[in-house]
Amino acid sequence: MANILITGASGFIGSFLVEEGLKQGYQVYAGIRKSSSREYLQDSRIQFIEFDFSTTEKVTETLESCKKNNLRFDYIVHNAGLTKARKKEDFHNVNCLNTVHFIEALMQTGMVPEKFIFVSSLAAYGPGNPLTGEPVRLADEPKPIELYGKSKLAAERYITSLNDFPWLIVRPTGVYGPKEKDYFVFFQTISRGMEPYIGFKKQILTFIYVRDLVRFIFLAMTSVHVQKAYFVADGKEYPSELFAEITKKALGKKTIRFTVPLFIVKSIAIVGENLAGLWGSIPTLNTDKYNVLRSTNWRCEVEPLERDFGFTAEYDLEKGVGETLTWYKKEGWL
Ligand SMILES: NC(=O)c1ccc[n+]([C@@H]2O[C@H](COP(=O)([O-])OP(=O)(O)OC[C@H]3O[C@@H](n4cnc5c(N)ncnc54)[C@H](OP(=O)(O)O)[C@@H]3O)[C@@H](O)[C@H]2O)c1
Repeated sequence: MANILITGASGFIGSFLVEEGLKQGYQVYAGIRKSSSREYLQDSRIQFIEFDFSTTEKVTETLESCKKNNLRFDYIVHNAGLTKARKKEDFHNVNCLNTVHFIEALMQTGMVPEKFIFVSSLAAYGPGNPLTGEPVRLADEPKPIELYGKSKLAAERYITSLNDFPWLIVRPTGVYGPKEKDYFVFFQTISRGMEPYIGFKKQILTFIYVRDLVRFIFLAMTSVHVQKAYFVADGKEYPSELFAEITKKALGKKTIRFTVPLFIVKSIAIVGENLAGLWGSIPTLNTDKYNVLRSTNWRCEVEPLERDFGFTAEYDLEKGVGETLTWYKKEGWL
């Protein structure tokens, strides 16, 4: 039985990675923090390892104790990351520096696995050209537009500089599914009869359902492909109105539609950021978030997924949202 270590196992995507690993017959090691919730990690086959990635020495200590117990990881999915942060520097510390510490410790302890998957993000490349509408391609120059994307790109730059390390980078677009908390706010807003839009320009969104993403990660992990990067999306494009339509249909709701002009959103973002800046925190709506909200082209190249792995998504948005909303309702979130 091959051993797999999944970091960020307590989170939304991490818990699905753990579930898939168990389903595929791996011995799954869930990399968590002391403070992490184990709510979605209840299967008795899961082994837990607490990691503190804040210094190379701390990770080394943990890996040395694994070695002492004759434990080696055949595969590692480094999925732990911050998508929202209270302080600006947290993005770089967690998404980039922690990754550097982890890899340094793996190399120093001789614990380099057969494959190390880094869960990055489409945000590392930023949105596509709004004028041409062309998707972001692997050959493009990355142009992240916010701190989160910049921190993922910095981690990628470190990883891709390693010649003898078996890395593979996965860059998902927006991931949705049961347990997810950000798109949930949108679903909740629609279920309350409101349908908000930001700005008057048509926005093209892309998505990947969490179960498809996880299936792709396992395919990529055991494939011959290494030292490569892939965007992951379901291959379809969704104007924001269609996202709302699909949700309304699945919820059986009628809504009041309204648009908040961009200049209002920007003003709120700037004022909030200046105030929060006084004590070094980041408000929920900030200029970074504003840049993401106003971007109109989130298409990305997915042909390499089929070419290299024969991967196509099993879920389009309609099917995935249906399953997701059923879960939210069953769990009493909606
Ligand atoms: N969701 C998306 O749409 C999306 C899209 C593209 C890429 N991604 C990437 O996918 C990964 C998982 O995201 P998610 O949506 O599942 O987020 P999530 O639910 O917030 O999970 C994040 C996980 O990372 C862990 N983590 C955060 N800070 C950490 C630290 N300092 N040390 C160790 N572990 C830490 C969290 O542990 P605790 O439970 O202890 O906080 C949690 O297990 C992230 O790398 C994210 O950037 C997500």
